[in-house]
Amino acid sequence: MNLFSPLTVRAVTLPNRVGVSPMCMYASEGGFVTDFHVAHLARFALGGAGLVIAEASAVHPRGRISPRDAGIWSDEHIPGWRRVAEAIDAQGAIAGIQLGHAGRRAAVREPWRAGAPLDADDAAAGLGGWPVVGPSALPAGPGFPVPEELSVAEIARSVQDWGDAALRAVDAGFRFIELHGAHGYLLHEFLSPVSNRRDDAYGGDLQRRLRYPLEVVSAVRSAIGPGIPLSFRMSCVDGAEGGNELDDVIEISRQLLAAGVDVIDTSSGGITTDRSTDTRVRRGFAFHADFSRRIRDEVDAVTATVGFIVDPQQASLLIERGDADLVLLGREMLAHPNWAHHARIALGDTSHASWNVRFGSALGPRARTLARLSESGETPLTRFER
Ligand SMILES: Cc1cc2nc3c(=O)[nH]c(=O)nc-3n(C[C@H](O)[C@H](O)[C@H](O)COP(=O)(O)O)c2cc1C
Repeated sequence: MNLFSPLTVRAVTLPNRVGVSPMCMYASEGGFVTDFHVAHLARFALGGAGLVIAEASAVHPRGRISPRDAGIWSDEHIPGWRRVAEAIDAQGAIAGIQLGHAGRRAAVREPWRAGAPLDADDAAAGLGGWPVVGPSALPAGPGFPVPEELSVAEIARSVQDWGDAALRAVDAGFRFIELHGAHGYLLHEFLSPVSNRRDDAYGGDLQRRLRYPLEVVSAVRSAIGPGIPLSFRMSCVDGAEGGNELDDVIEISRQLLAAGVDVIDTSSGGITTDRSTDTRVRRGFAFHADFSRRIRDEVDAVTATVGFIVDPQQASLLIERGDADLVLLGREMLAHPNWAHHARIALGDTSHASWNVRFGSALGPRARTLARLSESGETPLTRFER
């Protein structure tokens, strides 16, 4: 078993264990994806990744993180997504999508504008805010709006939104669905005692905080049927006082699995935007792998790990040593979209057989010529040294 062993989950087989982590691109209008998304996501499939997960896509317009997030809250979004899924599929990767609702952390600016809550200037520019919702009327941090507490009737409608969105995703051709249950967004807000202070059936002890996420998982599983893998991205520790710890998350994972989840995608943090109390997991290489390992050891789940995975040997050892079943790469893929093909070469398969034949048939001879030149001592600068 190594990085390039296939992975079967339910009726879907990923051709290898290199996945592209979901990444918001802030490039949609009205939630609609564009040619940019087709080009951006298909190149990772062309680059040899076995799974490409499209960015967090809002199941309700209020659940967009920022105004130009992708959406899947209406049937009208399906044709755009179908183009994306088909483009990924045509290059031999499994097309995945992350469904999301940002809850109390919705209605903010893009990261390059500091991710701050939208204000009057944004409204004047036609990028106005909207009322945010959450389990309780507690803001995400200083300067963030107080969310409207969802009523029980609104929770029921929201569960339906997730199910409807999942159905659209499958209709569009996605064969791997991930729910964004991490980073302080709505599902995570229900799970965490930091953000969920309800005293009804949806808040209180862990079992009641789990109720909304479990209802969402059941609705999504019914919508997508038995064959499609369902992943849940989890913040494995809240990193905030009074928040969930890994032991809580292990219990949460067990229950999510029983409700229809297959993959626990291990991430962390986000429950508060208050940097004075936030103790984020230290950003070392493969910084979520210990979480993945423990969940994999203690729960009968397929696990994915993400976070500063950059090196082929590092990635392969994470699989070989049993830290995870799947590695997800985010920023590394933005930098090197052909990462998976290069990883194969670095791990000893120099055949170029995994590349699209139009590339591979040219790159194999090129690699041999480069090796010959290197052996002869000639470098790209030799001519200038004469
Ligand atoms: C531009 C950008 C957008 C992101 N958007 C999402 C997202 O939509 N959903 C999500 O769960 N994580 C999102 N993330 C987090 C990544 O999926 C990933 O977990 C994180 O970047 C760590 O992995 P890396 O070190 O390989 O980049 C985003 C990260 C970046 C850099």
